[in-house]
Amino acid sequence: MTCCHYYQLSSGQENIFSGDVSRLRYGAGVTRELGIEAMSFGLSRVGVFTDTRVCQIELFQEAIQSLEQSGLTPVVYDQTRVEPTNRSFQEAAAFAIDENLDGFISIGGGSVIDTCKAANLYSTYPADFLDYVNAPIGEGRSVPGALRPHIACPTTAGTGSEATGIAVFDFLEIACKTGIASRAMLPDRAIVDPRWTETLPTSVLAATGFDAISHALEALTAKPYSDRQPTTHSLPRPMTQGANPFSDLFCREALRIAGENLVSAVTNPSASGARHNMMYAATLAGIGFGNAGCHLPHAMSYPVSGKIKDYQPSGYPDDQPICPHGVSVILNAPAAYRFTGVGCPERHLDGASLLGADTKNVSEIDAGEILASHLENMMRETGIPNGISGVGFDASDVSTLAEAASAQERLLAVSPRVLKDGDLALLYTDALKYW
Ligand SMILES: [Fe+2]
Repeated sequence: MTCCHYYQLSSGQENIFSGDVSRLRYGAGVTRELGIEAMSFGLSRVGVFTDTRVCQIELFQEAIQSLEQSGLTPVVYDQTRVEPTNRSFQEAAAFAIDENLDGFISIGGGSVIDTCKAANLYSTYPADFLDYVNAPIGEGRSVPGALRPHIACPTTAGTGSEATGIAVFDFLEIACKTGIASRAMLPDRAIVDPRWTETLPTSVLAATGFDAISHALEALTAKPYSDRQPTTHSLPRPMTQGANPFSDLFCREALRIAGENLVSAVTNPSASGARHNMMYAATLAGIGFGNAGCHLPHAMSYPVSGKIKDYQPSGYPDDQPICPHGVSVILNAPAAYRFTGVGCPERHLDGASLLGADTKNVSEIDAGEILASHLENMMRETGIPNGISGVGFDASDVSTLAEAASAQERLLAVSPRVLKDGDLALLYTDALKYW
């Protein structure tokens, strides 16, 4: 199935899209090349951002040894918070300033890589914290120039943060996630070693795998770039430029690989090949959404994770309630796709088919339902909670969640179906329980 007609080029509308990609090194064992890559930037004193779990894994020592063998001085910061906050971003930036770093290396999941991006940004161009944060929550100010070199080494198969210029955090003052988005924050290198997945708890594999799937699905079904007004000096091209032929390539391949491997990676402990394949799918999905944007499932996820009450999943730190990012995303996805299906039915069917759904002899009017039902089946097979009620929300929370999600303008702007007043509340109601 092709979707070429999705892009209708016409005068007065955008006809240019961009493709931004971190220089990628992928494969089992590539961690041993970290030092050589860091040396190629002429670095000497590098900050190594990680967390207390990752720094105990044998592979982490392999990374440090690679840096030392190349003559670099690694300075480890292991206080990155899982699901970072504005406060933890600022603490990491303070560390970067105090240690006078000339380069940045992140070794961890999306929380670690995002924290490292923020530490690089605020230590290179100090500013009031909200200056760079996405509007309307922050000022949405442009990053003034290039940042210092950043080499990202993902250890989970999901966020794709190594391939995007986005850093997401919990803004504590309003109990909601938001982010900073700038092409300047795109890591200079992505060193992707799938061996990291071999020690991931299955609950983390499931959560991060669904995050990757949703990145690819949301970018594939995003409003097309050609629907935007042309880019001008006063109206620069946003990172979330909408679906385009470049991002489509990565999204479709990510979905094909994830459809073949996610359930096996989670349910079969000996399926290391499936785990490795999910690592590649996640990076491809990261490139895809980094060049197009996500929409409703991510916009709806941020209030869910930001306002979580007492949910504590296995495989995550137990010192605080937490809804892992990928879980909060996929819990909203079936409701979202039932809503957006009419916006671009052929793309919803394309996504469902790539994930393994039978889409032969189906009607486009059922596209959203087919994709949503297939995701629900995958969620059940991998132990994901049954809707947002499965992580502690009920009908009395719907209006609060909907109000918070309405502030996610960057994401809502590329929804393939325009939202009216009251739609977000209906969507959260639909997302309460699926089976
Ligand atoms: Fe995500």
